[in-house]
Amino acid sequence: GLEQSLRPETLKQYIGQDKVKENLQIFIQAAKMRNEPLDHVLLYGPPGLGKTTLAAIIANEMGVNFRTTSGPAIERAGDLAAILSSLEAGDVLFIDEVHRLPRVVEEVLYPAMEDFFLDIVIGTGPSARSVRIDLPPFTLVGATTRSGLLTAPLRDRFGVLSRLEYYEQKDLSAIIARTAEIFDSAITEDAANEIALRSRGTPRIANRLFRRIRDISQVKGEKMIGLEITKLALNMLQVDDAGLDHIDHKLLKAIIERFNGGPVGLDTLAATIGEESQTIEDVYEPYLMQQGFIQRTPRGRIATSIAYDHFGFQRTDRG
Ligand code: ADE
Repeated sequence: GLEQSLRPETLKQYIGQDKVKENLQIFIQAAKMRNEPLDHVLLYGPPGLGKTTLAAIIANEMGVNFRTTSGPAIERAGDLAAILSSLEAGDVLFIDEVHRLPRVVEEVLYPAMEDFFLDIVIGTGPSARSVRIDLPPFTLVGATTRSGLLTAPLRDRFGVLSRLEYYEQKDLSAIIARTAEIFDSAITEDAANEIALRSRGTPRIANRLFRRIRDISQVKGEKMIGLEITKLALNMLQVDDAGLDHIDHKLLKAIIERFNGGPVGLDTLAATIGEESQTIEDVYEPYLMQQGFIQRTPRGRIATSIAYDHFGFQRTDRG
């Protein structure tokens, strides 16, 4: 579908993340020259930056099949054995949320990654025995929001570690221009820049905002997506000048107004605003920290003066 064709298919089409691309390009070329599978790759970084897209590109550039699953979907060793034994030589197996693999599955994965075999225990009690199953060589591409969530033995088995960063505005603008072209919509450069500025460095957010702005522009009878309709639409969508949405606002205002600027623990904060701790930690906090709105301290989260200024709040004595 269209969603699929939005995704770039080659490293050349993939915009931004230059360091990651440059490295992958070399490792892919070397593996192809040696006629070997690419070493296992760990992609980490905040959600929405293109980890799945990059994994699919790796498979495409290597000229192999792309198979996908996720950590929580693989419940037992047998589930993993079924997937691995169905691979063809050189295939890319993408495991999203690889930090959520059950421990028993992880242990079966180690010899599979290292030496391409499975040690599976069949039966129980005195009749239990272990059988060795040889596997085709494959490339595991794992994705996680933070590499620190991985166990050390799993992390050590990835030969390539690539951290995706929030995108620069110029790269997000180029992604939005590309998306507009695929959708056959006209957008002005200043409008694309404005969306880029307010997408929290994240292509997934930029593309989502683009689609909604395009809807609003179309319904208002605009021929081209310009700056004025873009600003109006972004306000309708409750995205502020810094790209913060209403959940970012709830989070920052809770720290400031209910906890006097903090420090407040993550779980307390989560309960206060009715969001999952994990979602706050993986989705909201990284950008708020990168932009300097909050800081993490051993005693909890604090709102910085940048956060106070953003809302026009005066800082009261914290006592
Ligand atoms: N769409 C989403 N992310 C992209 C990227 N990094 N390059 C090109 N198109 C994209």
